Amino acid sequence: MGVDRRRSVVFGEAVEQYEAARPGYPERLVTEVLAYAPDGPVLEVGAGTGKATAGFAAHVSDLTCVEPDPRMAAALTAKCPGVRVVSGIFEDYVPDRRFALLYSAQAWHWVDPDRRWDLAHDALAPSGALALFWNHYIPADDGVRAALGRLAERYGLASQSLHQNEGDRAEESRHLLEDDPRFTDLDRRRYTRTERYDAYRFVTLTGTMSVYRILPPDVRERVLGEVGELVGDGLDLTLTTELALARRI
Ligand SMILES: C[S@@+](CC[C@H](N)C(=O)[O-])C[C@H]1O[C@@H](n2cnc3c(N)ncnc32)[C@H](O)[C@@H]1O
Repeated sequence: MGVDRRRSVVFGEAVEQYEAARPGYPERLVTEVLAYAPDGPVLEVGAGTGKATAGFAAHVSDLTCVEPDPRMAAALTAKCPGVRVVSGIFEDYVPDRRFALLYSAQAWHWVDPDRRWDLAHDALAPSGALALFWNHYIPADDGVRAALGRLAERYGLASQSLHQNEGDRAEESRHLLEDDPRFTDLDRRRYTRTERYDAYRFVTLTGTMSVYRILPPDVRERVLGEVGELVGDGLDLTLTTELALARRI
């Protein structure tokens, strides 16, 4: 299945909401990914506003970020002035060196599935590490989760919304890499924590998801209004970061 380009470019129009409401990534993940990778230059694909970049930039002196959306890239540069930002999609990026680590946070699924493994292989130095990770946001309370599910279903959004675990993309990646003789040392890790979201932040978070962004504005407003009512005083979100690791031979 190809990438839905209409959905891959919607994040920049909600850059402030994205920055305010999306969770970041655990510090332990950053430490473990850097321990797995050899020393050397690092490449991030689809850096957005820098939710993952900030953690890596604190430890890495040579960090290049590929990001196609100029509004996301501007927020990224403001937050992480020391990183090199290359404007454009990863499919068009021509590496000027081989990287010791390529990582991508919540963005690898937007890169052309027919080309992304070749592109990663070509960008990495021998023994270089590939780290792909995604956050899952699941309301901790079963009743709230079910009610959000019914709401999403009424609007035809059931398959991609916040009430359920989407397909596990880290597991899918590992599965694909298992059959690729150019990669070895596959590993899979998971980091879980719970965060309290008030209704405003949860509605804002929901509104940053691509499946909600592509709705006509009046419909989106209606859905988000209903989400806010349903959540009331807020909710506990179980945040799980799923990580797939591999090493280029
Ligand atoms: C869901 S956001 C994730 C941003 C950030 N990594 C984070 O974790 O918050 C996906 C990002 O991928 C970018 N993107 C979409 N298609 C891309 C492509 N083909 N190559 C590189 N980045 C892409 C979008 O502009 C957006 O900034």
